[in-house]
Amino acid sequence: MSIKPHGGRLVNRFVDGNKRENLLEEAMRLRKLILNDFQISDLELIANGGYSPLTGFMKKADYENVVENMRLADGTVWSIPIVLGVTEEEARTIEIDKGLTLADKSGRILGVLYVEEKYKYDKYNEAEKVFKTTDPAHPGVKQVFERGDVLIGGDIFLLNPVEHNNFKELYIDPVETRRIFEEKGWKKIVAFQTRNPIHRAHEYIQKVALEICDGLFLNPLVGQTKNDDIPADIRVKCYKVLLEKYYPKDRTFMSAFPAFMRYAGPREAVFHALIRKNYGATHFIVGRDHAGVGNYYGTYDAQRIFDEFEPEEIGITILPFEHSFYCKACNGMASFKTCPHGDDQHIVLSGTKVREMLANGIMPPEEFTRKEVAEILMDYYRSKKDK
Ligand code: ADX
Repeated sequence: MSIKPHGGRLVNRFVDGNKRENLLEEAMRLRKLILNDFQISDLELIANGGYSPLTGFMKKADYENVVENMRLADGTVWSIPIVLGVTEEEARTIEIDKGLTLADKSGRILGVLYVEEKYKYDKYNEAEKVFKTTDPAHPGVKQVFERGDVLIGGDIFLLNPVEHNNFKELYIDPVETRRIFEEKGWKKIVAFQTRNPIHRAHEYIQKVALEICDGLFLNPLVGQTKNDDIPADIRVKCYKVLLEKYYPKDRTFMSAFPAFMRYAGPREAVFHALIRKNYGATHFIVGRDHAGVGNYYGTYDAQRIFDEFEPEEIGITILPFEHSFYCKACNGMASFKTCPHGDDQHIVLSGTKVREMLANGIMPPEEFTRKEVAEILMDYYRSKKDK
């Protein structure tokens, strides 16, 4: 028996057969809204059940309770608003109780939203509550500030699949990942969220978790990230080479997580955990500064936030990990929890330092990044320089 999806039922908003034909015909006559990449990402995750129990973009009661209390209007835990923002001008031509066709930038129809509500909202309050800052330099706050001033709420139907250009085979919907885990006979499945190339500390915590689980579900986020993060296609190359050489094939499984990064730290950790439960994972890794950026969040805030809920309300088991590193005195990977030695023995490099090294063609120490990964990254920086 697989783990229960959040809210009890895996949502599926794909429409097929005759119903799809009819809706498509209707969609061609309706007011059409062109979605940006953030909105398409949310649309896909609502439709495929990744965001279960959501069936559409949030209406006001859900939005407000999520912002204020990390819960949907009915009390179900949910930590990040999933909303469709449009400009006031666009909102004037969007009618309540009518269908709204959702399309990509090429005009291709993706789906239909049944407009139930249009409402204004307080972006500063959202930023303060969700991100704990209103600093526009915070990349998630910037996304909110750039979002349209009016939110459109209502259920969606997906008529055409969202198209992806890269590593198509890695886009696997929750219903399918659940089936795959069952087929593999895995009962305890630990999911790993990441937006960075895998370094040794990532590998270490994944493998420690795998010691007590049946399978590792590597689920890199491949939607939009901030400019200085490594692009998803390069990261996927790194994950593949590592999986091939250093991971047991029958105990690891990778698929893409089509969300974009919010950098909301603790709130995003809850969000990430609930979605991985929907994908069928039973355990979820939260390490140091999960989904963090700059110095907006404390190192372990993303672990502590789970104390604010009953474990049954979250439903997936959180595996918290201390800051991990290679220790020269231990002669192996360790963490502050397991290593008695001082900082001078630890190989810890900041993201900025590593980027600088790679960009200058300097190989980071093998204790930090495996050389197969470093080579891919150095190639990437070299090709960027040549452009
Ligand atoms: S994140 O934005 O997706 O959290 P990243 O890909 O760097 O960024 O991290 C993936 C996961 O590994 C997160 O749970 C993070 O907390 C954890 N993590 C990253 N580096 C370390 C480390 N050195 N020690 C322990 N956990 C870590």
